[in-house]
Amino acid sequence: MSSGSLIELLDAFEAAAMAAIESAGDAGALEAARIEFLGARQGRLRDLQGLLGQATKEEKPLVGRRFNEVKTRVGAALEARQRVLARPARKVGGLDVTLPGTRSPQGRRHPLTQTILEFKEIMGRFGFSVADGPEVEDEWHNFEALNIPADHPARDPLENFYLAAAQVAARDGSSSPPRLLRSQTSTVQIRVMESSPPPIRIISVGRVYRPDTIDATHSCMFHQMEGLLIAEGTTMAQLKTVLRLFARAYLGQDVSIRFRPSFFPFTEPSVEVDMSWGSRWLEIGGAGMVDPNVLRAVGYDPDLVTGFAFGLGIERFCMRRYSIPDIRYFTGNDLRFLSQF
Ligand code: DAH
Repeated sequence: MSSGSLIELLDAFEAAAMAAIESAGDAGALEAARIEFLGARQGRLRDLQGLLGQATKEEKPLVGRRFNEVKTRVGAALEARQRVLARPARKVGGLDVTLPGTRSPQGRRHPLTQTILEFKEIMGRFGFSVADGPEVEDEWHNFEALNIPADHPARDPLENFYLAAAQVAARDGSSSPPRLLRSQTSTVQIRVMESSPPPIRIISVGRVYRPDTIDATHSCMFHQMEGLLIAEGTTMAQLKTVLRLFARAYLGQDVSIRFRPSFFPFTEPSVEVDMSWGSRWLEIGGAGMVDPNVLRAVGYDPDLVTGFAFGLGIERFCMRRYSIPDIRYFTGNDLRFLSQF
């Protein structure tokens, strides 16, 4: 047989084998095609192999190369088809389940939530545990026990969010005690000391509410972290160290903290705390040594224990860390802002 017709036979074999493999609709049909074309005992390729001996010496390399090529190609096509048929059914009720799905948008924690978690973690390393209190408070916890008497300007109804129910009750002469949205997390100091004996080392993080005029650095709702440490022989130096270490842990070594003498009814002495922001100072909260009147209000003996306390605005820390120019971004619910954290 001439090499020309051997080549033709190989061509025809390849075309037929490829067509059979392509049209095999399931694993059984494909296996049948494999046996017919590549089967080791009676396959058509094996028959062709038997004819190779008829090629002349000069023709042999050409025919041999073509034989090997056909064998490789048909083998590869067979394997490829096997893989396709092994995939899960493409169509389920008219739906192509192999198409890529639509990704659902991935949520993330609000930047303030991230900040709060980090605050708790840092203060946890300093040995402070977390305490909680309600956002709707009575006047005892928000004012009275904190040494803020009834005639103090901080208790002015215009400076606070009193609940309407209490106003109605007051007008109707009922005895329901007035309630308000807490204006400071210092309320939790009282709740913790009322329910447990010293020593105390807690922080409390949460929302506070004030009818402030809203601008880039003020909001009528913001977050505070309150800290309280009660023990024997606490000092102002310890308070300053804790606040410095805390600020550096969150903002890095380059932040400076400054203390200015101030007044709060619940601390004596009291300081206001500023942090450096570029060439400026920004107030971040208040602090001081717990006033003996407050210790007495919760049944502690000021001759036996003393303590320090602080209240920090959380938004301002987060704003400095991420250079956020406006506090209103936190409540704007704009995904272009939120998705950056
Ligand atoms: N409660 C104060 C405020 O909201 C902040 C504050 C000052 C908290 C001194 C404290 C403190 O615990 O000791 O402005």
